Amino acid sequence: MSGKTYRIAVIGGDGTGPEVVREGMKVLDVAAQKAGFKIEWIPYDLGGERYKRTGEILPDSVLEELRKVDAIYLGAIGHPDVKPGILEKGLLLRLRFELDQYINLRPVKLYPGVETPLKDKGPEDIDYVVVRENTGDLYTGAGGFTMKGTPHEVAIQTSIYTRFQVDRCLRYAFELARRRNKKKTLALCGKTNVLTYVYDLWERAFHEMGEREYPDIKREYYHVDATCMWMVKNPEWFDVIVTGNMFGDIITDLGAITQGGMGIAAGGNINPEGVSMFEPIGGSAPKYTGQNVINPMAAICAGAMMLDVIGEPDAAQLVEQAVIKALSSGKIKSLAAGKMGMTTTEVGDFIASNV
Ligand code: IPM
Ligand code: MN
Repeated sequence: MSGKTYRIAVIGGDGTGPEVVREGMKVLDVAAQKAGFKIEWIPYDLGGERYKRTGEILPDSVLEELRKVDAIYLGAIGHPDVKPGILEKGLLLRLRFELDQYINLRPVKLYPGVETPLKDKGPEDIDYVVVRENTGDLYTGAGGFTMKGTPHEVAIQTSIYTRFQVDRCLRYAFELARRRNKKKTLALCGKTNVLTYVYDLWERAFHEMGEREYPDIKREYYHVDATCMWMVKNPEWFDVIVTGNMFGDIITDLGAITQGGMGIAAGGNINPEGVSMFEPIGGSAPKYTGQNVINPMAAICAGAMMLDVIGEPDAAQLVEQAVIKALSSGKIKSLAAGKMGMTTTEVGDFIASNV
């Protein structure tokens, strides 16, 4: 019972984003009431529609306001009428970078009653977390074209990592492995056989920090290609996986499908010292927009992560337990959009009633 009021910015964004965050807000409000605190939701009109209307993507004045909230709750970014990259870079990546959300936390957890495409695997086998570095790598935007449009065109895009970025991400991952207190294992996912600079830095930093400060945490190393293989064949090996931004992007889509798909996969863009942002990791799903058929569970689970990070772990637990209860009720036919046997609103109501 903190009795506090949290100020949370809501960016519904594009496509089905607004529909799923609406259900998330509904569920979180019930959890907050039960746990004895309040949430003041502050809506922001950002995304493809605003860009088309006004040409604005993320005005500096809005960014300054977002620096002052307790957290940001995001639906989805990406609009069919806007060229790929404009909104992603101008809004989503800009927020991650400007707010220095250097951790992208993506749990891969199969809940009871959820179908996984992995043969003979169950909830006891699929329960790990990917710590994706969220500010560096190929995502920094370093690069360019020369002789564009000619037969001699050159395109360059560079992966960049600083020791500082690597160290702070590793530290978060080691601490998480300790806090989870499960297998006490941290796996570094890299590509030291080809990316002999960037992942050499990661590997040296990993072992130096582990040896010096985390002797209780077992260290493992996997190349990214092999990581994909083992995530399918032996997901039970993993506890915490830490990796760079690009590999983290790729392996977490694989992880998401093994936990039941984009309907349930949630992520947090975390700045442990600043403002964090929580989102379902699926996209804006334009073909389902406005039909009330998209699954809001990923957004609801992202909301639970948000409550945990802002300092309301009991309320986070209430939400997660409500999701688990809904899933094991057998009433939700599938996690896929349009196949749930319920509308988006009904799923939100059902989970809210379980809180
Ligand atoms: C994600 C997305 C984004 C990323 C895109 C939309 C820029 O795929 O959050 O995983 O690549 O990080
Ligand atoms: Mn992605």
